[in-house]
Amino acid sequence: MDKHLITGGVPLQGEVRISGAKNSVLPILAGCLLTDQSVIIKNVPHLNDVTTIMKLLGQMGAKLTISEGLTIEVEAGSVDNPSAPYELVRTMRASILVLGPLLAKHGRAMVSLPGGCAIGPRPVDFHVEGLRKMGADITVEGGYIHASVKGGLKGANLKFDIVSVTGTENLMMAAVLAKGTTVIENAAREPEVQDLANFLNALGANIQGHGTSQIIIEGVKSLSGGSYTVLPDRVETGTYLVAAAMTGGRITTKSTRANILESVLNKLEEAGAHISSGEDWITLDMQGRRPKAVDICTAPYPGFPTDMQAQFMAMNTVSEGRGVLTETVFENRFMHAHELRRMGANIQLNGNMAQIEGIPQLMAAPVMATDLRASASLVLAGLVAKGTTIVDRIYHIDRGYECIEEKLAQLGATIKRVAA
Ligand code: UD1
Repeated sequence: MDKHLITGGVPLQGEVRISGAKNSVLPILAGCLLTDQSVIIKNVPHLNDVTTIMKLLGQMGAKLTISEGLTIEVEAGSVDNPSAPYELVRTMRASILVLGPLLAKHGRAMVSLPGGCAIGPRPVDFHVEGLRKMGADITVEGGYIHASVKGGLKGANLKFDIVSVTGTENLMMAAVLAKGTTVIENAAREPEVQDLANFLNALGANIQGHGTSQIIIEGVKSLSGGSYTVLPDRVETGTYLVAAAMTGGRITTKSTRANILESVLNKLEEAGAHISSGEDWITLDMQGRRPKAVDICTAPYPGFPTDMQAQFMAMNTVSEGRGVLTETVFENRFMHAHELRRMGANIQLNGNMAQIEGIPQLMAAPVMATDLRASASLVLAGLVAKGTTIVDRIYHIDRGYECIEEKLAQLGATIKRVAA
């Protein structure tokens, strides 16, 4: 297993290009299953999760062509095996996103249950219940969801008790080809949900209200082909900005957008960063200062994203003062706290709250990544620690950060990947 070796102490400087959003490209590629025609997706990030969903589509019978590094053409007209095996689903929970499109297009699907996850139980009951309300017959046997529908899905009124991002996306994709109108109440408002809706509308779907908590979908008979450019990754953007803030540096993130991460930028300003932005760039300047600790409470969009909680914990460990993080979206999403403590961080955990007392400097240590965003926080901690930090199990980071060591090295960090 590869490891990252990071020697801390360099304030980051320079420019970094932000990749397409992982959480947009995964549902968009699943959405390609809804049409027989060719779809061209641009600004695709080179990530392990993208490879996984491509394998998934490929084994179903779809034809995929990769060109110019960032563009993928998908032709799903040849799909004849509407199933998602455990071997692929277990490595990526978002594989559940094929369930809605397969059922809508093929009238049947067999998708492995994602199972437990390192950041809490993460069930898929909302996905299943919503599809049942649309007329699907669903059973769970041998770890697989077996779904079928006779005569096609029907529009329904659906309401989420808790906001669910992939739940909203799955049901929205299913509703696109259903007969009649579907209304999703308490829908997720994340930019990636909006991106998926814009993509589907570009292929001829009739979706309205995306970006609000009520999405209305009028079913259409079929979707056409088309071409679509994936939104920038707001979590990758935020991660580099936090890296700059922690190291007292000044960086510009390019090919990104400030209006998709306002809650994160507000917290960075509260920590003392100077932020400026234009249409497709954000500059953060810490002017060599140590950040001030910030309090954070995660919430669905437009609230503070749970996917940035670990990175802000890393920043608080070296900030001036005390910060309290409250995690309301997922249970058990503080595993990085234990690893950060191995580097000297002063963190007290109490249920879904973490209290962090900033210290002037962390000390390098061997640490282990436990999930995607937790591993990002350990890399950030390594950037400010005294000595050389070894981050093990970085396959987690490769799921969601394109070329992280190249991008950080370009900003002046001392980081390399070594094969174990
Ligand atoms: C998505 C993102 C992930 C992000 C999360 C929250 C993708 C591919 N992943 O994950 O990066 O951290 O949103 O912003 O977009 N829940 C249920 N039953 C369900 C579905 C969800 O109880 O059927 C609960 C979950 O356990 C969790 C909460 O709802 O407590 C929100 O989860 P959800 O928004 O569904 O997360 P994901 O879509 O899996």
